[in-house]
Amino acid sequence: MNYLQNKKILLGITGGIAAYKAADLVRKLKEVNADVRVVMTAGAMAFITPLTLQALSGNPVATSLLDTDAEAAMGHIELAKWADVVLIAPASANTLACLANGLAGDLLSTLYLATPAPVAVCPAMNQQMWAAKPTQRNIQTLIKDDVSIFGPGLGAQACGDIGAGRMLEPLEIVAHLQSLLAPKPLLNKKIVITAGPTQESIDPVRYISNHSSGKMGYALAQAAQQLGADVHLISGPCALTAPHAVHTTTVTSADEMLATTLENIDNADVFIGCAAVADYKPQTVAAQKIKKTAQSEMSIALTRNQDILATVANLPNKPFTVGFAAETQDIEHYALDKLQRKNLDMIAANNVAIAGQGFGAEQNALMVYTPNSQHELALNDKTRLATDLIQLIAEQINQHNN
Ligand code: CTP
Repeated sequence: MNYLQNKKILLGITGGIAAYKAADLVRKLKEVNADVRVVMTAGAMAFITPLTLQALSGNPVATSLLDTDAEAAMGHIELAKWADVVLIAPASANTLACLANGLAGDLLSTLYLATPAPVAVCPAMNQQMWAAKPTQRNIQTLIKDDVSIFGPGLGAQACGDIGAGRMLEPLEIVAHLQSLLAPKPLLNKKIVITAGPTQESIDPVRYISNHSSGKMGYALAQAAQQLGADVHLISGPCALTAPHAVHTTTVTSADEMLATTLENIDNADVFIGCAAVADYKPQTVAAQKIKKTAQSEMSIALTRNQDILATVANLPNKPFTVGFAAETQDIEHYALDKLQRKNLDMIAANNVAIAGQGFGAEQNALMVYTPNSQHELALNDKTRLATDLIQLIAEQINQHNN
C-alpha cells in the first residue's frame, strides 16, 4: 500500500553532514508520488544548496522567515497548513533542542509550532551527542509531544566514531513515513512481544545461549507501535536500543522471560513469541565458578525450559498467539505441526538454511500460516517485513472480532 500517494510532505533539512542524503530522500519521496516542499535552515545550506532541492522537488525552497518574496508566494502559516506531514531529515541536536523547547527563531522551528500536521524527525549526529543527557531529555519531550522519531541508525559515522546517531537511509525513512501515515488498525490493542536470545546460567561466569540478534522482535515491536498498538517488548540480552514509545523490559533467562510474560499478558490482544528461547537450561546452577579437572571430558545435565508460547496459547483467556519457526527443511510441514501442537493462531516460518536471511541477518523472508490460510512475505529488510507481518496480524484479529 502506498500511503504517500499525493501526500503533501514538508521536508525540513537542518545542518549536518547527512544533509547530502536529503537530496536522495526527496527523489525517493517523489518516486512514491508525494508532493514535496523543502525548508532549509542556515546550517543546512552550508552542506547542500537550495537549487539542488528545488530541482529535485520541483518546488521553490523556503529558507528564511523574514523573506518578503517568499512570504508573498506562500507565507509560513500557509506552508504550515499546506503540509499533511512535516518531516525533518536530518534533524540536528540543535534543532531537536529548539523543537523540544518551543523556540521559534527560524522558519523551520516556527513552522513546527504553526502546523497541525503530524511531525517526524530523523536525528543525525555524533554518537556522543546523541547519547548526551540533554539530547535524550529533548527526545523524551518530543515523544510526549507526539513527534515520531525515526532512527537514528547504528554504524560508522562521518567523524570516524561508531555508534548510534546515523540518519536512517532514505528508503528506511520512506518506509517509516508510510507506517506513520498508514491507518491505525491496532489502536487500543495491547501487544506483548518476546525477542532476542535467553541466557541460561551454568555458574556465576558462564551461560548457554544462541546467536539471536533480537532484530526481528524489535522491528515487530516498532511496527506494531506505529500501527497504533500499545506494545510491551520483553527482551533477552541483546545490543539493540529499545524501540521508541515501546515499553521494554529486559530479562536474562527463559524462566525470567516466562514470568515477565505471564505478569503482563492479562488483557493482551496479541502475543508474539519471537524470542529464541533456550529449549534447555542446566539442571543446577553452580554457586561458585566450576574449576577444570584432570578429566578430558565433562558434561552438563540439562533440563527442559517451559515453552512460553505454548503456555500463553493455552491460557483460558488467550490472546491471538503468534509463534515463529526456524526450519531448514519441510518448512510447511513443521510449521503447521507447530501451529497445531502449540495451539497457535498464526506461525511465521523462515528457512534458516538460506545464507543472508534470518538469524543475525538484516533481511528475512517468511511463510505465514494460520489454521486456514497461508501468506508469503518475500525477502525484505526486517523493518519492512515486520510491518507486513504486523499488518497481516491486524487483518486477522480484525476479522476475528467482526
Ligand atoms: N518458544 C517459547 N518458549 C520456549 C521455546 C520456544 O516461547 N521455551 C517459542 C519461540 O519464541 C518461537 C517458537 O516457540 O516462537 C519456536 O518453537 P520451538 O519449538 O522452540 O522451535 P524450534 O526450537 O525451532 O523447534 P524444533 O525443536 O522443533 O526444531
